[in-house]
Amino acid sequence: MSFGDDFVWGAATASYQIEGAADIDGKGASVWDTFAHTEGKVWSGHTGDVACDHYHRYKEDVALMKQIGLAAYRFSISWPRVIPEGTGAVNEKGLAFYDKLVDELLAAGIEPYVTLFHWDYPQALYDRGGWLNPESSDWFAQYARVIVEKLSDRVANWITLNEPQCFVYFGHSTGVHAPGDQLEFDKVLLATHNALLAHGKSVQIIRAESKSSCRVGFAPCGINSNPHIETDADIAAARAATFAVTSKDLFEHTAWWTDPVMLGEYPADGVELFGSDMPTIADGDMEIISQPLDFFGANIYATQEVRADGDSWAVVDYPDGHPVTGHNLFVTPKSLYWAPKFFYERYNKPIIITENGLSNKDWIALDGAVHDPQRIDFTTRYLSQLKRAAEDGVDIGGYFHWSLMDNFEWAAGYRERFGLIYVDYPTGKRTPKDSARWYAEVIRTNGAEIPSC
Ligand code: FCB
Repeated sequence: MSFGDDFVWGAATASYQIEGAADIDGKGASVWDTFAHTEGKVWSGHTGDVACDHYHRYKEDVALMKQIGLAAYRFSISWPRVIPEGTGAVNEKGLAFYDKLVDELLAAGIEPYVTLFHWDYPQALYDRGGWLNPESSDWFAQYARVIVEKLSDRVANWITLNEPQCFVYFGHSTGVHAPGDQLEFDKVLLATHNALLAHGKSVQIIRAESKSSCRVGFAPCGINSNPHIETDADIAAARAATFAVTSKDLFEHTAWWTDPVMLGEYPADGVELFGSDMPTIADGDMEIISQPLDFFGANIYATQEVRADGDSWAVVDYPDGHPVTGHNLFVTPKSLYWAPKFFYERYNKPIIITENGLSNKDWIALDGAVHDPQRIDFTTRYLSQLKRAAEDGVDIGGYFHWSLMDNFEWAAGYRERFGLIYVDYPTGKRTPKDSARWYAEVIRTNGAEIPSC
């Protein structure tokens, strides 16, 4: 058995990671522009000033997507490119870029999946308090309205926020991502609540103002849990670990972000643990946050293994020498079985894998090609588990490989290469890797050759 006939094969990127053109055509600064230009924040002082120069090379990039045979392309919009101050005047040139990109995609037969926000927050709004400002969710809703007004005659698939875990928690608690703050925990929870409200309000805007029928989701991440052994006890332990909130490390606790959106409530264990640090939740907030979605987007990277431990669960360390990717994440193919399965059980919405992939130590070989057998093997293993989930009745709508092309990997700069397409940054030259040709064949055959397991 293969993937369903309507299974969507795609690849994903994000604006700050690929566009470059950081301050041309009227674009405003984002917190990532500021952060990357602050000494010591990004590996080797790299910035997204030029990145893949996708802003100027988007036609070439869409042609490459077509060559791969992508059915869909997930990209994000740079809020300050469109509204330089974050609210108020629209920068028509910036908006025109996305307008042209959408047309180019549609002409190539590629379905656009638009992410409204993938971390490049307007610096001007950060200067007004950012996600801590009580108006922040309304600012986001206004921005969403501008985008929906312009693109929704041609864009049907929307993702509101990418990984709030990262931009809220890493940006405001550990400070390893922009804007680099290390706030008190109550402030971090407030930023969380405002970001989730922003999500909900943008869903309302998309639904109310879309010019064509639309589908809306969001794309959280987190640490998933696989059962150490696939016994009932370990499976129950992994399920419990996936949704438990046991510490203030909000990145680790997926349900803190997903339960409010999908179920309309913060997890009770977290509420109890966080006590007086919890923000005031106004009447109607949870209803806004939990606007019904059409799909649950899942970005799957980091996974731990757990086993049953009495009534509770315990993390089992991977054995010494367990395979890791270039980014030092453990290779855990079963996360593409268990995470979608657990999310589907709990939230009962179609699952789209909105990101999955690996960074690898790729370079151009003497023969001029980029040979990346690890990426092919990794993705085959993961897709094989996704197929298993689909065969077991999980409604899986699609898979977006991260990433279409090598790009600016946040605090790691250009050190990490996640792409199906190799980018030589000094020249901008693109070279599809072996994995791009392999993925083209997977798409052409709708995954028929991906082994079942
Ligand atoms: C995810 C981000 C994406 C990229 C990948 C590797 O957390 O959404 O932008 O950095 O990790």
